[in-house]
Amino acid sequence: MLQVNEILSHYPSNYKQSGIIPMLDLAQQQHGGWIPVAAMDAIAKIVGVAPIRVYEVATFYSMFNRTKVGKYHLLVCGTTPCMIRGSRDIEDALLKHLGVKRNEVTSDGLFSVGEMECMGCCVNAPMIAVADYTKGSDGYTYNYYEDLTPKRVVELVEMLRRGETPPHGTQNPERKNCGPAGGMTTLLGEPKPPPCRDLDAC
Ligand code: FES
Repeated sequence: MLQVNEILSHYPSNYKQSGIIPMLDLAQQQHGGWIPVAAMDAIAKIVGVAPIRVYEVATFYSMFNRTKVGKYHLLVCGTTPCMIRGSRDIEDALLKHLGVKRNEVTSDGLFSVGEMECMGCCVNAPMIAVADYTKGSDGYTYNYYEDLTPKRVVELVEMLRRGETPPHGTQNPERKNCGPAGGMTTLLGEPKPPPCRDLDAC
């Protein structure tokens, strides 16, 4: 209840319903990655709205899961730039390696693979996000792994299985963040001053 009060303290008391999204997020983290109807009903009661108002929000946003997911929920970006750069191969490699279909959970409960639309990381396509529910809401993380290959994504899964924390961000050792592979190719020296008219020459 402490966390709920903290969330509500951010909004005027006559706009408690603004807390629906952060409360759904909290419920999801506390409940191993998905939100049961009972949690949505409890949120509706807290903010004083009809349960349908909370269902509407939870069903609209794809980051809210309404069925069980793995402790590591792997979200493959399926939008055009990632698709052009091989996201289907990334998803196929994950599904094959884990022996599941999309949105299924592995028998040990550890992994599930979902799909997400553009996560704003197109410059490092293809990419996945990993929602880590292994440590409850206090240790919850949501990290991006970028510039993936089918081989690398399988390596990442195995690192997670061993309880390791793979370095997030680009997985291409030749890139720094979203810079070009192999290093900068432009803006390497001091920029020239802007051209100015030589008034003395007039
Ligand atoms: S298309 Fe995949 S991050 Fe934008």
